[in-house]
Amino acid sequence: MKVILINGSPHERGCTYTALFEVAGGLNDHGADAEIIHIGTHGIAGCRGCFACRKLGKCVIDDGVNEIAEKLKVADGMIIGSPVYFASPSGSLISFLDRLYAAHGNSLMYKPCGCIVSARRAGTTAALEVLHKYPMVNEQPLVSSSYWCMVHGNTPDEVRDDTEGMQIAYNLGRNMAWMVKALLNVPCP
Ligand SMILES: Cc1cc2nc3c(=O)[nH]c(=O)nc-3n(C[C@H](O)[C@H](O)[C@H](O)COP(=O)(O)O)c2cc1C
Repeated sequence: MKVILINGSPHERGCTYTALFEVAGGLNDHGADAEIIHIGTHGIAGCRGCFACRKLGKCVIDDGVNEIAEKLKVADGMIIGSPVYFASPSGSLISFLDRLYAAHGNSLMYKPCGCIVSARRAGTTAALEVLHKYPMVNEQPLVSSSYWCMVHGNTPDEVRDDTEGMQIAYNLGRNMAWMVKALLNVPCP
């Protein structure tokens, strides 16, 4: 059982990573492997709306989205993590998700998905709502936690001090492991 965790922050080892690392702990403790993938700092291009992906089965833009999609295809579950930027997910992550779901959405169908955000203070539920729209339009079971999935802090240390946020992150990983196990060998509809 393997779950891929997407870090949509420009900071490879920042606050979002800290939350995802805790999610990975919950996954590992409950029998699932976890891999955190950073979308990078090179800037993910926005979707051009060219619809070439409908013919090619992949995106024509070569900036890493297709490669990550290949890893997601063979994973049993996925977690999307983002910092909150002006009450929304990061721009790079939105570009990533637009193109991932446009070009590779079919291969993600029925794959359990959870989302988590990191903010200094506010805009978390608005950002989560944006993230949840991707799996929800793609027939993916949403994995929940013991609260809306958010951590608070401007630095990894501040995030680690958010004990409730850390517990929520851990429980998201635990619940994802349970969901993935429960669906193993269950045929898709
Ligand atoms: C451009 C920008 C916009 C931000 N907007 C918000 C915001 O709306 N609300 C908030 O609480 N924090 C905001 N922050 C702070 C980050 O969300 C917060 O520090 C986050 O934990 C950083 O995660 P990272 O270390 O993974 O990048 C913003 C930061 C940046 C750079």
